[in-house]
Amino acid sequence: MAKDEKRKLRSDAWFYENEYYAFARRAYLRSEGFNRDIFEERRPVIGVCNSWSELNHCNRHLREVAEAVKRGVWKAGGLPLEFPTISLGEPFLKPTSMLLRNLMAMDVEESIRANPLDAVVLLCGCDKTTPAQLMGAASADLPAIVVPGGPQLNAVWRNRKLGSGTDGRKLYDEYRMGRITEEEWCEIEGAVARSAGHCMVMGTASTMTSLAEALGMTLPGCASIPAPDSRRLAIAELSGKRAVELVYEDLRPSRIMTREAFENAITVSMALGGSTNAVVHLVAMAGRLGIRLELELFDRISRRTPYLANIKPSGEHLMEDFFHAGGVPALMREILPLLHGDCLTVNGRTVRENVEAAECHNRDVIRPFGQPLHPEGGTAILRGNLCPRGAVIKQTAASPHLLTHRGPAFVFDNYEQMKQMVEREDLPVTKDSVLVMKNCGPKGAPGFPEWGHMPMPKALLAQEVTDVVRISDARMSGTSFGTVVLHVAPESAVGGPLAIVETGDEILLGVPNRKLELLVPGDEIERRLSRFTPPPPHYSRGYGKLFLDHVTQADEGCDFDFLVGGAAAEG
Ligand code: FES
Repeated sequence: MAKDEKRKLRSDAWFYENEYYAFARRAYLRSEGFNRDIFEERRPVIGVCNSWSELNHCNRHLREVAEAVKRGVWKAGGLPLEFPTISLGEPFLKPTSMLLRNLMAMDVEESIRANPLDAVVLLCGCDKTTPAQLMGAASADLPAIVVPGGPQLNAVWRNRKLGSGTDGRKLYDEYRMGRITEEEWCEIEGAVARSAGHCMVMGTASTMTSLAEALGMTLPGCASIPAPDSRRLAIAELSGKRAVELVYEDLRPSRIMTREAFENAITVSMALGGSTNAVVHLVAMAGRLGIRLELELFDRISRRTPYLANIKPSGEHLMEDFFHAGGVPALMREILPLLHGDCLTVNGRTVRENVEAAECHNRDVIRPFGQPLHPEGGTAILRGNLCPRGAVIKQTAASPHLLTHRGPAFVFDNYEQMKQMVEREDLPVTKDSVLVMKNCGPKGAPGFPEWGHMPMPKALLAQEVTDVVRISDARMSGTSFGTVVLHVAPESAVGGPLAIVETGDEILLGVPNRKLELLVPGDEIERRLSRFTPPPPHYSRGYGKLFLDHVTQADEGCDFDFLVGGAAAEG
C-alpha cells in the first residue's frame, strides 16, 4: 500500500468507527495536548514500547532514545505514542529475571494487541528485555522494529580495560583471597560499569541484541553502537521513520523471523561466541511463530561455524571495539557463505544486500573466516545418560584441558548449600573433582537462574586451581566463563538423572564428541530414580504458580506451554 492510498489502518477501528467511543477516544487522546490535525492527516499510530526503568540501569537512557524514535515517526507522517511495560533489570530481580521473562512477553503482546497501534518500535537492552519483546511482538505480529539501547562504553580501571561481569567475577575471586584491597575494590565498583547501556562484553544482552540484528529485526549496524554514542540516537530516528513505512508495506515479524532467519541467528551466535542463554531464548522466540528449533540444529550449526569475534568472555576485546571494527554487518559478511542471504530484513532489503559491502576495520577483533579463534562455534550441545534432553557448554570460554575429563562428583543439593560450602577451606575437592549442583532449573530454583557458574571453592583457589568442571540444571550469565555445563534437561526437580548423582560417582565429560555420562551401572541408576520424590513446589498462588504449572524445560525454551504457536490469528 502506498502512503497516499487511504487503505484502512488497524487504528481506524479505535478512532473512526461511527460510534460514541470513537469520539471519546479522539477527545481523550487530544487531552494529551494534540491538535485536531493528527486525525485529519490519518496518521499511522506507532507504539514506542519502552522498557525504561530506574530499576534497570542498562535501559535507563531509553527515554532519550524514545524521543529520537518519535522524531523519526513524526517526520515520516506517523503518530508516535510511547508506552511502558514491565522492565527486567538483571542484577536486581530475585530469584532471577528469567522467572519474569514470560510475564514481560505477555505484557508486550497484550499491550500491542489491545491498543490502537499500526506498528511498534521495541526499545530493549538488558538481557531478558530483548527476547521478551521479540516473543511478544512475534505473537502479536504487527509490523515491528527493534532499537536496542546499545552496550556501555569500555570500562577502564588503572589503565586496565575491564569487561563488566566478566572481569568483575575474576577480580572478586582475587578480592575473596585478600589479593585486592578494600580501597581498590571500591575503585573497581565505580569503574566497571561507567555509562548507560547494557554489559559491554558478549554477554546475553550483547548476544541477544546482535541476534535481533541477525534475524533482520533491527536496521543494519544498530546492535553494537555504544549507548552514549550520538549515532545511537541517529539510528533510533531512522528506525522510527522506518516503522511508519512498515505499516504501508505490511511487513510483519512473521515475514522476517522465518526458520531460515533463525538459522542465520544461530550461525551468528556461534561466530560471536554468544551467550549460552541464546539457545533458550531463540527456541522460545521461534516457538511463538510455530517454528521448532531442535537442540541438534544448534550443534550442527556450531560444528560448521568458526568462532570469529574476539570479545570477552571468550576473547579479549569489548563491544565498543566490536563496533569500531564493523559490528554485526562485518561479522555477517565474513560468514555470508554460511547464511541464508535471501532472508528479508526490516529495512526491506535482504541479508545479503545489507552486509555484502560491509568492511572490517580491525582484524584482531573480527577474525577472517580462515583464521578463526576456534574452528567451531561458541556453544556445544551435549547428550548422554546424565542429560537425556540435552545440556549446553560454552566451549570457547572453557579450559581446553578440561574439555575431555573424567572425575568424581562432589554434589551440592541446592544453591544455598553450594554457596556455604565453597567458602570452606577444607572442602574435600581436587582439581579433578566435578562439582554438581541440583535443583537450579526452571521449576527447582525456581525460575532457571544464572547460578551455574559456581564460584571456585576456596580450597582450590588456595592451590592456584582456577577452573574445574561444573555441572547443573541452571543457566549461566553470558559474561561468565569456565568449564561449566548448563541447562541439564530434564532438570533434577522433575526427576531428571541429575537428581540421583551422589558424591563420588564418576562423571565423563567429552565435549569433542558431545558426551555427558554418569558412569554408574544402569540398574543402579534405575534403582535410585525409582526412589526419587520431587521437592515441594515454591509457589501455591499468583504468577509463581502459573510459572510452575506451565513452564517448559530448557530444551523447549522455558516458555509457557499455552503461549507456544502462532497466535496472531486470534488478535
Ligand atoms: Fe543488564 Fe548486564 S546487567 S546486561
